[in-house]
Amino acid sequence: MTSINQTIINKKTTNTPIWLMRQAGRYLPEFREIRKNNPNFIKLCLNEDLASEITLQPLKRFNIDAAIIFSDILMLPYGLNQKVELKKNFGPKLGNLNLDDILKVSEEEFLNKLNPIYKAIKKVSNNKLLINKSTIGFVGAPWTILVYMINKISPKKELVKNFFLDQNLINNILLTLEKFLKLHIDHQIKNGASIIQIFDSWAGLLEENKLEKYVYDPTKNLVDYVKSLNIPVICFPRGVKNYKKFCNFVKPDAINIDYDVNPNLIVKDIDIAIQGGLDPKILLTDKNNLKKETLRYLNVFKDHPYIFNLGHGVLPETKPDMVDYLVKMVKDY
Ligand code: CP3
Repeated sequence: MTSINQTIINKKTTNTPIWLMRQAGRYLPEFREIRKNNPNFIKLCLNEDLASEITLQPLKRFNIDAAIIFSDILMLPYGLNQKVELKKNFGPKLGNLNLDDILKVSEEEFLNKLNPIYKAIKKVSNNKLLINKSTIGFVGAPWTILVYMINKISPKKELVKNFFLDQNLINNILLTLEKFLKLHIDHQIKNGASIIQIFDSWAGLLEENKLEKYVYDPTKNLVDYVKSLNIPVICFPRGVKNYKKFCNFVKPDAINIDYDVNPNLIVKDIDIAIQGGLDPKILLTDKNNLKKETLRYLNVFKDHPYIFNLGHGVLPETKPDMVDYLVKMVKDY
């Protein structure tokens, strides 16, 4: 069993494993080199050779315990025939949302469009760099994907006015997402994903009284599905204020915390494996500070099943040398 799976399943507390969200990305010169010649981000995600090569880039540099497939949560709306673009210095931009068009998409059509992702996962998981390491597949949670599909751009701090107005549209999309997210999860696992992480990056935008309908219930359906396939599932409901309540309701196998969570409190509140927490901005400071902050997390979680990671993705301005230092520190602890 891989180190991460031991931490999650056997609740092992020694030899803390480490991987990083966005470990493959713009902070790596070798990624920027490929990106330079591939201006269309979606096309790049659908290039099985380059997507698998990019996925492996951080594993060639650092002694990390997992590969996370180079793809994006927005490949789901893309598979449902909503236009998705990534604009430079702006972020994602989605096209018009037409419910009839989305309801027409067949499973076969969806799988055909996303097939290169599954092929890339297969290539990665069969690579010798992955011996004794985990291949992490992922999806966006229904809520976060719904946000992008309706909002069409990153909401930053708030949703478009009248976001909740068309309940018929919302309910239909949530049902469609559930069906296709399960299909997407299933095919990632069939092709070698040994863990699934569910990213709910915009969970923090919701008021308490909307969490059950939009976050807890739809996420629990996916969590139950992954569990039924005997694969561990990690949830990251970023910005949700009450992680304990989320875990009690959704019951994932592990939980990723954001950097606003106080590690000293959460370690007492939650029994399952915990992942992440360190503010990615710490990697932009200096080694002394990085050491101090890394030790803070390692010490707090010394007797708790813990997977080292960040409280959000690696920032593009990060120096690879700082990542190297972090990984070595965690491994030498
Ligand atoms: O973690 C990894 O290394 C795996 C790959 C991965 C990407 N996106 C690649 C990517 C994963 C797991 C994601 C998830 C994702 N995508 C989330 C959830 C996590 C989070 O960040 O909150 C979200 C919300 C998205 C949507 C998305 N994709 C945004 C908002 C952006 C633009 C912001 C940015 O950082 O540029 C993307 C583009 C994107 N996805 C890039 C990468 C490497 C940058 C592409 C580039 O400009 O070269």
